[in-house]
Amino acid sequence: MKAYIDQNRERFVNELLEWLRIPSVSADGKYKSDVRRAAEYAQMQLVRAGVDRAEICETDGHPIVYAEKIINPQLPTVLVYGHYDVQPADPVELWDSPPFEPVIKTTATHPQGAIFARGSCDDKGQVYMHIKAFETMVKTANLPCNVKFMIEGEEEVGSANLATFVKNNKTKLKSDVILISDTSIIAHDVPSIDVGLRGLSYVEVEVTAANRDLHSGVYGGAVANPINVLCEMIASLKDKNGHITIPNFYSDVMELSKAERADLNRAPFDLSAYKKELGIDDIMGENGYSTLERTGTRPTLDVNGIWGGYTGEGSKTVLPAKAFAKISMRLVPNQKYEKITQLFKKHFESIAPKSVKVEVRAHHGGEPYVMDTSSVAYQAAAKAMEQTFGKKPIPTRGGGSIPIVAMFEKELGLKSILMGFGLDSDALHSPNEHYGLVNFYKGIETIPLFFKHYAEMIK
Ligand code: BES
Ligand code: MN
Ligand code: MN
Repeated sequence: MKAYIDQNRERFVNELLEWLRIPSVSADGKYKSDVRRAAEYAQMQLVRAGVDRAEICETDGHPIVYAEKIINPQLPTVLVYGHYDVQPADPVELWDSPPFEPVIKTTATHPQGAIFARGSCDDKGQVYMHIKAFETMVKTANLPCNVKFMIEGEEEVGSANLATFVKNNKTKLKSDVILISDTSIIAHDVPSIDVGLRGLSYVEVEVTAANRDLHSGVYGGAVANPINVLCEMIASLKDKNGHITIPNFYSDVMELSKAERADLNRAPFDLSAYKKELGIDDIMGENGYSTLERTGTRPTLDVNGIWGGYTGEGSKTVLPAKAFAKISMRLVPNQKYEKITQLFKKHFESIAPKSVKVEVRAHHGGEPYVMDTSSVAYQAAAKAMEQTFGKKPIPTRGGGSIPIVAMFEKELGLKSILMGFGLDSDALHSPNEHYGLVNFYKGIETIPLFFKHYAEMIK
């Protein structure tokens, strides 16, 4: 298989670059037809790679690409999940090269080159490794079990339509395990496997004072300014220790045992390198927890955007009528996002002064996820990575969310193995997102080994 991958290295990358040129931004309606084109490109490449059939499944939103190759119904089946949609590219002016015109450049972290483009790491580049690993197994007669692919176009906007698709297609999706590459490793020479994902509750708040914008001299000082009020309300959501003040917010949080905490903190972490990479003089977070614990095992509350009043050129003296904010809460086992959303709403409404009205609107959400390192799937993935990296992977808890993963467990009864190959420093969701060529090829080499070990171990 190594020889086949080596012979086709350039073609593999060029095909990915073509996919990256399609701006499949799921959040923005303006890209609707591009999102579909990206789905069709994946369908076409899956057919070329050797699936029995690949289809575009319509949803109320963007389509899902489904494909399968069943070599023998008696053999186990691996379901590969990923997403072909990407985050919006803005702020576009901060990109060194246009987000949908991929270029390969070397960096200090990627001396052998990295692909710069929106979606290169999250998640088209990682999905493409699966398509090419599958092609390699098929073309070299090394496919040891059945494969199903489910590649969605709405992960970055909450996967609402995928949830419906999964509930309605349980037979079609029947398999033994789900394999996902949409997370990171610690470093090129420090492989890791995510055994936890945080859940998410995402809300939008609207604070209204007077029934119209007012002259800030005529009324200022006598009528509430909703922006000032909103800022005070937000500031009160955390105390000086970085604890969230919403009553009962932590009631269901699973505290880790001493041993679990020690395990987690054994993962290599260089605080000064971390600060340097981010350009910060100090870190900030909940007292009593390390950085790895803060991102992997503790819930958060963060403002993602805040607006209101006059933000144009020059100045305008105005008491705005309204102020808004988008707020996300990352959740950990055993918090439930609907309960947290309700707790937030109740608390936020209760702290509003009478001088304003507040409205809390829930966006999407998802439950947290944890996986057991003693499972066959974890063991197979660990063995595969050990072969290609020359080192056993470290189980870690990434701070990100893939809300559909907990849903897969609930609806399909299947565990997902999170075997990602990106780096946290690859600028996912940021300007200049990139994906190392080394990571891309490493993934293509490792995935067939997972299939091999999993098929052998599950027997
Ligand atoms: N691939 C990421 C999640 C991720 C990244 C997990 C790195 C672990 C390490 C995914 O595409 C993502 O961005 N998820 C969103 C969830 C959402 C929009 C509902 C997130 O975490 O913000
Ligand atoms: Mn992703
Ligand atoms: Mn993402």
